[in-house]
Amino acid sequence: MAKDTGGIPPYFNIDPDIALSELAPPTDTPGFADIAGACARGRADLASRGMDDEGRKSLRLFSTWEITRYLIPVAQAHFRRVLKQHPDLPQGQSETEGGAKWFTLDEVLRLRAFFGAQGSKAKNYLPYRPEGLPAKLVAVANFKGGVGKTSTAAHLAMSAALDGYKVLVIDLDSQGSMTSIFGGRVEDEWSTAFPLLARHYGEHLRAENQRRVAQGEAPQPLDEALSAALEMSARDVIQSTHWPNIDLIGAQLNLYWAEFQIPVWRMAARSWKLWDALTDRLEADGVLNDYDLVFIDTPPALGYLTINGLAAADILLVPLGASFLEFDSTGRFFDMLHSTFASIEEGENTAARALGRPETRFEWDAVRAVITRFDSAQQGELSGLMQAYLGQTLSPHRQDFTALIGQAGEQVSGIYEADYRDFNRETYARGRETFDETYAAFKRLLLGIWRRDERAAQEAADRGAAQRKQAV
Ligand SMILES: Nc1ncnc2c1ncn2[C@@H]1O[C@H](COP(=O)(O)OP(=O)(O)OP(=O)(O)O)[C@@H](O)[C@H]1O
Ligand SMILES: [Mg+2]
Repeated sequence: MAKDTGGIPPYFNIDPDIALSELAPPTDTPGFADIAGACARGRADLASRGMDDEGRKSLRLFSTWEITRYLIPVAQAHFRRVLKQHPDLPQGQSETEGGAKWFTLDEVLRLRAFFGAQGSKAKNYLPYRPEGLPAKLVAVANFKGGVGKTSTAAHLAMSAALDGYKVLVIDLDSQGSMTSIFGGRVEDEWSTAFPLLARHYGEHLRAENQRRVAQGEAPQPLDEALSAALEMSARDVIQSTHWPNIDLIGAQLNLYWAEFQIPVWRMAARSWKLWDALTDRLEADGVLNDYDLVFIDTPPALGYLTINGLAAADILLVPLGASFLEFDSTGRFFDMLHSTFASIEEGENTAARALGRPETRFEWDAVRAVITRFDSAQQGELSGLMQAYLGQTLSPHRQDFTALIGQAGEQVSGIYEADYRDFNRETYARGRETFDETYAAFKRLLLGIWRRDERAAQEAADRGAAQRKQAV
């Protein structure tokens, strides 16, 4: 409570002796460790509240109302009738005799598969994914902090999972927020994306060494860490989460080490394409066939990890708030993206041109800025201006500010994990709607891109067939 200062502003009449009496001794370096320890204990306390007996997060159940309203669009009566007719289908559980039925997400997915196979063809119960094409990688990035990167990526991952897609989430931020949201356990950097990058470098070095030896030069030593990484695959660092169809490559503080290690490796082998490391390893380990969507959360910096995430991405989402400072800073971020990737292309292509090799050119299926934490009462004008200047690059959907995010503890990370009974239904419906719309805008983009790829693949196949016919 504010002290009664007799109407004088609070910064007047502060007595230095009283101020001194309130002061603790100076802080030294170990002082940071004490503060970190206090935070860690508080965090563990919060985290434990939402966990099951084995110390893992668990996902809430879904009611018939929610399933038929949001997940499998059929009338409740029809849903109940179908369940009754098929006793082998999940029947749900109720808290009270004859009360509402609740289902696990696994059960919802089974029910959806059933409705998808049996139901009327007009309703698309199963989300579209062209056959034989790889997963789409989506990076969420902006070097401005706190703009909603992690919230957007986490909510998109969850809504895509609820929609029936199989999702992998990669946390490239050593802050590990995404990892906390998905209850990931990460001992050290060896359980993060780090070994994938290390393996990519290790393989490059091994190939270089073969060439060196062939030319009578001494090979470069592969240290213990690199040799260990050469034995690892993406599957070693992918962990399951409390969501049945979301897996995770987690992060923790040690991942930051990569920002120092990568440039050292690059100095030792100038021809190592560090930006391709994540893409190449995910592809080589078959990850892109195991999932439909891969969401990559990046730190608020344009470091080597972010560059790897961006280079791997097919779709780049750049969240920002509709404020002058965020708009300004995001403009600079695009400027940095331009100079970073242009300098990589330039560096590669000078050599490629000289050797007559194909040139490196980065390409993204789509790049979209997304307004987050939107307050229509205050930010209508600024967002209108942003729309006018950014055009199609700015997603037309603005993600509203909602009190449903970030206020619940460790257990509930966002709208899709919240039990609607804990909220006023209006508040819940509005909060959910804004994130459903965020997903809908993303899905529209995704389906368009997949369809484009599918057509291109079809055309290529047709051309191939026509050529073979001619050759006969
Ligand atoms: N639509 C929203 N409504 C209300 N609060 C939001 C919304 N989106 C994000 N937030 C809140 O804004 C804060 C920053 O969000 P978030 O952590 O997602 O940003 P970030 O860009 O990932 O941050 P960092 O740069 O630190 O990684 C969080 O407290 C989050 O709960
Ligand atoms: Mg974040």
